[in-house]
Amino acid sequence: MLHKSLLKNKKIQEENLRHIAIIMDGNGRWSERKGKIRTLGHKEGFKTAKKIVKFAVKRNIKILTLYAFSKENWKRPKIEIMGLMELFFFALKNEINNLNKYNIRLKIIGEKSFFNKKLQNYIYKAEKKTLKNSGLILNIAANYSGRWDIIQATKRIIQAVQKGILDIKKIQEQNFSQYLSTSELSPVDLVIRTGGEKRISNFLLWQIAYSELYFTDILWPDFNQSTFQEAIDYFFTRERRFGRIKK
Ligand code: IPE
Ligand code: IPE
Ligand code: MG
Repeated sequence: MLHKSLLKNKKIQEENLRHIAIIMDGNGRWSERKGKIRTLGHKEGFKTAKKIVKFAVKRNIKILTLYAFSKENWKRPKIEIMGLMELFFFALKNEINNLNKYNIRLKIIGEKSFFNKKLQNYIYKAEKKTLKNSGLILNIAANYSGRWDIIQATKRIIQAVQKGILDIKKIQEQNFSQYLSTSELSPVDLVIRTGGEKRISNFLLWQIAYSELYFTDILWPDFNQSTFQEAIDYFFTRERRFGRIKK
């Protein structure tokens, strides 16, 4: 009996928490505190990301969106950017087998044309090789900006109107969303930001209109399964009203 109700509870939880988005912040400070170069923190952060992805699979999360590189991050020193791009290459090259093993579908959102051709090709191949996987959707935001996403959607909407495919009077929230880079994904239920800052830093904007927000001081390389679980537990203490009143 107890077993049955636990299972039911698990199912309700899975239905309510489908999409988690994480601002993985604090790699730089983690390494600086150790007197090491910032790139080391990013490498450590990559290890954390791998563990968190595994945990998301275990918890039956449907979509995990990770903010890996913002459009504003190009303003950082060249050496740090190079380290991040190398890490991106490394991950795309070495993690495909793992993604397939765990039935994970990889998706990259952001202005991909900014990356060099070789990297674009790696991204294209990785997405293609995992396209048929039906488990977790691992959505990586790279060269992403929430404002950019809204602008690129607007441009494509204008084109559709000009071509006569879309009637301007029929533009609503639902079909506007279809032009965002997250069009296939359900809305974000929970946003987690590590590293202590309480801001969105141009991550998903439209998509988090009704998300629950969880901020923790833990630096990303120190984030782990149990701190991830704490964030998930916090989510289930919230009553999501979506403008309605208490049930
Ligand atoms: C987040 O960590 C990772 C990226 C932005 C790529 P940071 O590098 O921003 O780390 P802090 O915030 O400087 O500690
Ligand atoms: C947000 O972190 C971007 C990523 C985690 C990729 P930042 O470190 O770039 O954000 P700010 O500059 O503190 O707002
Ligand atoms: Mg930061």
